This record gives sequence, structure tokens and C-alpha cells, in this order.
Amino acid sequence: MLSKEGVEGVRIGFKLGEDNGKREGIFPPQNGKVAIVTGGAKGIGYETAKHLSRLGMHVIIAGNHENQGLLSVGKIVKETGNEKVEFMYLELASLQSIRQFVQRFKAKNALLHVLVNNAAVMLVPQRITADGFEEHFGVNYLGHFMLTELLLDTLKQSGSTDCNSRIVTVSSATHYIGELNLNDLQSRHHYSPHGAYAQSKLALTLFSYQLQQRLAADGSHVTSNVVDPGVVNTDLYKHTSWLFKLCKWLTSWLLFKTSTQGASTVIYVAVSPDLEGSGGSYYANGQKTKSADTSYDEDLQRKLWARSCKLVGILEHRQCAS
Ligand SMILES: NC(=O)c1ccc[n+]([C@@H]2O[C@H](COP(=O)([O-])OP(=O)(O)OC[C@H]3O[C@@H](n4cnc5c(N)ncnc54)[C@H](OP(=O)(O)O)[C@@H]3O)[C@@H](O)[C@H]2O)c1
Repeated sequence: MLSKEGVEGVRIGFKLGEDNGKREGIFPPQNGKVAIVTGGAKGIGYETAKHLSRLGMHVIIAGNHENQGLLSVGKIVKETGNEKVEFMYLELASLQSIRQFVQRFKAKNALLHVLVNNAAVMLVPQRITADGFEEHFGVNYLGHFMLTELLLDTLKQSGSTDCNSRIVTVSSATHYIGELNLNDLQSRHHYSPHGAYAQSKLALTLFSYQLQQRLAADGSHVTSNVVDPGVVNTDLYKHTSWLFKLCKWLTSWLLFKTSTQGASTVIYVAVSPDLEGSGGSYYANGQKTKSADTSYDEDLQRKLWARSCKLVGILEHRQCAS
């Protein structure tokens, strides 16, 4: 007989299935598991955090606005009845903040079963992070590279043969037009907001595949996959032109997914038993899809990995040996 939690798990699966219009995944309860969702206070990250909570997970919303984060925690607790939801401060534009976040998380002596690398900025004007990185590259890519690297030991300890820990990295279809310029990763010679966003999303895809290779090579019970949530009506578009915003306002009901729909593939990749032990893939619309040819270039993946280690100053780490 299904427990109350079991019924809940089924219900969420079908709800997401209907929203997505494509799949009807039935997600089992996730009680006792722990997830971190970056940028989980709003948009796709919020919906992901909420659904993982509903499945019984202890969810940590990692974000850079405390008030908004606490409000989101309150809403999730109220809606799901799961009180194991919390906010932890994480500024991905600062390596120091990332280190402090990981220290605070590790001080809890908690396990970590799911890491959702979701937060991002898009089309911001040319700006640099606290460490001097171009903002798209620094926040979207390098911040998550560093965060994942520092959490890998906990993810490895938390995974097992029949229940691998999962790293879910949120990319975008924009990565298909991305170019990775190893000679100008910070876009100093030529800056275009679109180019910088696309480069950061291509970098995340390359990273996710290379990470999977490294995890598999050392026999870790951790998988790494990439997700494209689709075109979703969120605040991500706040830096677009007024004309774009007007068009979006007029057409979003037709052309844009809701945040719940956008989160459905992220949640599927984070918890579906169909994907147990399976990593190194790109998912869109709930299905495994081919990513850009460049993203499979292992030489480029290794070069980016080595460069990233150097940039964030963690060359000494074993996983970072190129
Ligand atoms: N929406 C789409 O059409 C679409 C399409 C393809 C891919 N995606 C991807 O989906 C993911 C979620 O985006 P979304 O659409 O849900 O956008 P969103 O609503 O703007 O959410 C992005 C989240 O990232 C957080 N964030 C931004 N900079 C941060 C920083 N420096 N440190 C910590 N957190 C930071 C934001 O917090 P604040 O804003 O409060 O700073 C926000 O919570 C992103 O990776 C995006 O690239 C979205």
C-alpha cells in the first residue's frame, strides 16, 4: 500500500507531466535527502525547490537576497507542509562568499544528494564580479564550477551504488550559438551581452560533461547532467530592451512556459528513477537531446577545466588536475 508520502510523490509526478505536456514521470518520495538549489528564491529555481520539498527533501535555497529567500522559504513551507526548507546566503559573484557558503553548509554535517546549479544573470551590461571576472562568465559558470568543486566530497559521500547523488546544471538553448574563446574568456577585447551569456551556458555544458567523465573515472556514485528548461516567463529577461519586454508581455501566454513548466525537466533529472546512475547527457522538454557539437569536444572540456581551476585558485585539488 502506498504511504501518504508515496501518494504525494505520484501526484507531483502527474502534475508536472500534465504541465509539460510530454511526459508523465512518477517521482518517488525523497524523504531524508538533501538538495541545494542555487537561485531558488524565484523563477525556475523556486519551482524546483518547491517540488523537491513537496517530495520530502530537505531543501536549501542558496541565494543572494536574504529577504526574498526567506519569503520564498515561508511560501514553500506553507504550500508543502515540509518544514525542512531553509535559506542560505550565497553570492555567486564572489569566490569568498562561495567558500563561506560551503563552510556553513559543511558545518551542518549534512549529506548532499542533489545539487541544482540554476542561478544565472542574462544580458547584463559589461560588469565584473568581486574577483574581476566578466559577470556572465563569473556568476553563471565559474561560480557554479567553484561551488560544485567544493561540494564534490560531500556529494560523493552521500551517493551509493543504487542511489547516486546528482548534479543538475541548468544551461540554455543559447549555448548552441555560444563560442568559447579561451583567449578572451572575460570578453575584454569584445563584449556583447548575448555572446557573454551564450559563452557562459556553453561553458556550463562543457563542464558538466567533463565532470561526468571524471566522476565515472574515479568510480564515484555521483552523476552530472545538463538541462535546458526552455523559454520561460521569468525575471531573467529584466535586462532586455523595452521592445522585447513589450513583445514578451503580449506573447508570453503563447510562447513562454510558466516557471512550473520550466522546472519540470530540472526536477525530472534531479529525481527520476529512470535516470539512476546515468550522467553526461543534455535534457530538454523532458527528453535526452543532443547539445552543440562543440560541447562534446573533450580537448576543449579539459582546457576549460584547467583554466577554470587556475582562475578560481584550486589547482591543488585532485579533481582539478587536468
Ligand atoms: N527563463 C528562460 O527563458 C530560460 C531559458 C533558458 C535557460 N534558463 C536558465 O534557467 C535558470 C533559471 O533562470 P530563471 O529563468 O528562473 O531566472 P530568474 O527568475 O531571474 O532566476 C535566476 C536566479 O538566479 C539568482 N542569481 C542571479 N545572480 C546571482 C548571484 N550573483 N548569486 C546568487 N544568485 C544569483 C537570481 O537572484 P536575484 O535576481 O534575486 O539576484 C534568481 O534567484 C538560469 O540558469 C537561466 O539561464 C532560463
